[in-house]
Amino acid sequence: MKKAARFLVIGLLFTSLAFLLLGCGGEKESVGSADNSGVSENGKKKLVVGTDATYAPMEYMDSNGKIVGIDIDIVKAIAEEIGAEVEFKNYGWDPLFPAVKNGEVDFAVSSITITDERKQEYDFTDPYYVANQLILVPEDSKVEKFKDLADKRVSVQINTTGHIAVKELLGKSSSNIVAAESMPLAIEEMLNGNAEASVGDNSVVNGYMKNNPDKPLKVIEDDSFEKEYYALMVKKGNQELVDLLNEGIQKIKDNGKLKEITGFDVE
Ligand code: ARG
Repeated sequence: MKKAARFLVIGLLFTSLAFLLLGCGGEKESVGSADNSGVSENGKKKLVVGTDATYAPMEYMDSNGKIVGIDIDIVKAIAEEIGAEVEFKNYGWDPLFPAVKNGEVDFAVSSITITDERKQEYDFTDPYYVANQLILVPEDSKVEKFKDLADKRVSVQINTTGHIAVKELLGKSSSNIVAAESMPLAIEEMLNGNAEASVGDNSVVNGYMKNNPDKPLKVIEDDSFEKEYYALMVKKGNQELVDLLNEGIQKIKDNGKLKEITGFDVE
């Protein structure tokens, strides 16, 4: 009896090990191009693209749950130029970074600003979009400029350039910083009275105002915010993919496609 039980345990261990091995292999294959070697059915290079689809109008879910937006259109246009097929996957903001690092996705598009800090851990393509931070406050707020936020409670999307700017003003570990998982949640915190202002990219702040004209909010601009450049973020060392994507970016800059999608030129 005891012996039988031992056999059973060993047998089970073996089966689960086999499942684990096969399972992992299978999954990797369905993700396709973890090492950028994915090929789709029609022989085209297939690229898996991660995003945080909470960032209208740049990347968001439409009413059918489809990932759409300006960034998505840009990547599709790039893919067309380089003859690749793209598949978008929604990861959320923070999980997007490890997904690029461990090769779960080939690259990320998510209004990602090129920063020196990120450049140490990831590779970036050439920029395709220029942005800056904006301040969103309740309509009756007395805030006039970024410095006025120094003694206020400010909400941001966690680990974004807005978060970094606010940390510089309020202090790195200030308890007055409300760091939310997404930008809509950060704005929600302010609407609920848990913050007196929100700081985020102009693309998303302006988009929010456009989509929510009934909300009692106003936008404050401040020239002290630096210009930010969005780029596609690639696993460090994958120069081949950076070069390929840059080729596509250059083509859509040259043929006017990029301007058609965004409405402006990136210098
Ligand atoms: N541009 C900012 C940054 O890189 C915010 C981007 C947030 N994007 C998003 N899809 N949530 O930090």
